[in-house]
Amino acid sequence: MATIKKPRLKDVAALRRFLSVVSITLLGVLLLIFLIGTNSSSKSSYELDVDVTYNASRFGEKLNLPKQNTLSIELEKRNQMLPRNIDLYPRLAKDHTIIVLYVHNRPQYLKAVVESLSRVVGISETLLIVSHDGYFEEMNKIIENIRFCQVKQIFAPYSPHIFQDSFPGVSPRDCKDKEDATENHCKGTPDQYGNHRSPKIVSLKHHWWWMMNTVWDGLKETWGHSDHILFIEEDHFIYPNAYRNIQMLTALKPRKCPDCYAANLAPCDVNSRGEGWDSLIAERMGNVGYAFNRTVWRKIHKKATEFCFFDDYNWDITMWATVYPSFGGPVYSLRGPRTSAVHFGKCGLHQGQGEKNACIDNGVVNFEVDNIDKVANIKPEWDVRIFEHQPGYKAGFKGWGGWGDERDRQLCLNFARMYHLEDTASL
Ligand SMILES: *[C@@H]1O[C@H](CO)[C@@H](O)[C@H](O)[C@H]1NC(C)=O
Ligand SMILES: *[C@@H]1O[C@H](CO)[C@@H](O)[C@H](O)[C@H]1NC(C)=O
Repeated sequence: MATIKKPRLKDVAALRRFLSVVSITLLGVLLLIFLIGTNSSSKSSYELDVDVTYNASRFGEKLNLPKQNTLSIELEKRNQMLPRNIDLYPRLAKDHTIIVLYVHNRPQYLKAVVESLSRVVGISETLLIVSHDGYFEEMNKIIENIRFCQVKQIFAPYSPHIFQDSFPGVSPRDCKDKEDATENHCKGTPDQYGNHRSPKIVSLKHHWWWMMNTVWDGLKETWGHSDHILFIEEDHFIYPNAYRNIQMLTALKPRKCPDCYAANLAPCDVNSRGEGWDSLIAERMGNVGYAFNRTVWRKIHKKATEFCFFDDYNWDITMWATVYPSFGGPVYSLRGPRTSAVHFGKCGLHQGQGEKNACIDNGVVNFEVDNIDKVANIKPEWDVRIFEHQPGYKAGFKGWGGWGDERDRQLCLNFARMYHLEDTASL
């Protein structure tokens, strides 16, 4: 200790001074490089593709979106709030499958779905995104009470349901039914059957498309999530084994079924509960509990024009008749031989479809889940049976109409452009 002499200490101090001068200079140079870099707008490849910091007024200006009211602006801000229950579930599991539940306004149904989700094994590992078409307190309350996983609510800010007297809602000058626009001095383009738009009817397709674009390209929460996202609706009862089964299916998909674009919780035929075979099944894309990844979303997004200009107000028929056929090959979805989700309706409305149909009465879903369907029931060693040439909507179908108004088509296209302002020319 005594050997340390003053001069050496002095040297150390000088060295320190020298080092700090060097490091400050270095910092300055780095800062300069950084500033030059950002000025010439060099961004990471992801940012170039997707503008995640959603700024409504900027989009509105650039895209000529409908003029927003106070509620619409409020909802848009709310969409940027952090998920709930982060305190309870601070970490999402590695390789989690995000679940998106899209809803309108059937609280009794939503209660049943949420109740079913609360029993799903593994649900606490993931994030549940609930996408609302319209703003309804009773619906919000149900979602706000969820404690079984992280939950994020998003609200379609251009839902016809939140515009009382202007497009996308009903505006006073709109043509009605089969009115002639020039004769009646009203606004609107009729569909292929001569009918004008109905805001309540077009809202479903708008919501689905807005939700898809937002979930994949407009949320910080899904940023960089390259895994599958599972989509369910407010009238889908989800079995306890749904999450584990969909994880197995998506993991098996590349090996077992290279032609499969997606995985499904339920058969394409909504009245079927599956075959009960010891094999996997590849068939047409179904609309109950479907999951696909970002690669597939990019393919769908590229077909925005086909989707937005097809004269059918149903998003699923639009997909079957235009988007999937344009992929240029079979578009299969992989599923298990027993369903893990069912579409339910009001009891007594679907007579003649067999008593196995699930229905809801006073908020209680009226059917039993067998024990075998309470745990994961897919075996990795199973082969795949392919259902070829199934009946159903396909290329050539001209659509049920309801989607002829030029304003709806433009709004739809704008939803596809919204998060891609850097490269709107490509659409
Ligand atoms: C959003 O864009 C508008 C118009 O360009 C701008 O005035 C506003 O400051 C931006 N807001 C945020 C939060 O970036
Ligand atoms: C996404 O799924 C498609 C279709 O199954 C597959 O071809 C693709 O490789 C997958 N992408 C990633 C990143 O896993």
